[in-house]
Amino acid sequence: MKKPHKILVIANWKMNLNVSQASFLVSKREKNVKVQKNVEVVLAPSLQDLQPVSLQIDRRKFRLAAQNAYFKDEGAYTGEVSFTMLRELAHYVIIGHSERRIYFKESFEEIRDKVSAAVRNGITPILCVGETKTERRGGETGQVLHDQIGTALSDLTAEEASNVVIAYEPIWAISTFEGDIAKPDEIEQEVKFIRNQVAGIFGEKTGQEVRVIYGGSVDDHSAGAYMGIKGCEGVLVGGASLNYHRFSKIVESAYALSKEKDGKEKR
Ligand code: PGA
Repeated sequence: MKKPHKILVIANWKMNLNVSQASFLVSKREKNVKVQKNVEVVLAPSLQDLQPVSLQIDRRKFRLAAQNAYFKDEGAYTGEVSFTMLRELAHYVIIGHSERRIYFKESFEEIRDKVSAAVRNGITPILCVGETKTERRGGETGQVLHDQIGTALSDLTAEEASNVVIAYEPIWAISTFEGDIAKPDEIEQEVKFIRNQVAGIFGEKTGQEVRVIYGGSVDDHSAGAYMGIKGCEGVLVGGASLNYHRFSKIVESAYALSKEKDGKEKR
């Protein structure tokens, strides 16, 4: 049996909060987040806020994620920031978020190169995958996930792939787009599919070891149910992560779940 991972609770602030707003939210949040061995709280501020937030946080309580980076390590790429530059700053980088795939036309190959660049620079990729409503209705979810995962991880070894976090974020459930609410059993099926996909490429062990989390309109009411899905090891939270009370409750749900799991293991 593989060792259980910590429950991941990731706050994707997207392009919100200037430096002082981010700092205010972090200082309030510090009070509610405990140093907890089974739950990992990750903040993903804008690139501009990453450095000041990194100086402010208690690193025993929080880890940081960048929301994007460019796949070349250095050079004449005006306006870009590389994974190499983020090495000391971010533990994770979100890659292939649907907003980047849709608004910035990021291709499968670009996402693959970003995943490799993150790994090369010792940063853990949080690879976002998911289908549109039309694709789901057309029965294409499996094919979409297969293509997104297959390409994104194609330059990795099995060991490298086992360290990746895959965030299943159906586009129809993300608040920015259609914002429908996904039922936990719909998610359970896809989480299983994702693990099988990874197992098919890299072997059973990697399929079990890779972390799979869920994202899409997660709030303080639904977080517990999503985190409790078999095989799902956390949540990626957008809109609700900007609200201090709602996000605190989501973190509380993770604490409650980890306590429950702990109890079961000891029994
Ligand atoms: P949402 O965003 O929680 O606002 O739906 C999730 C995400 O885009 O990562």
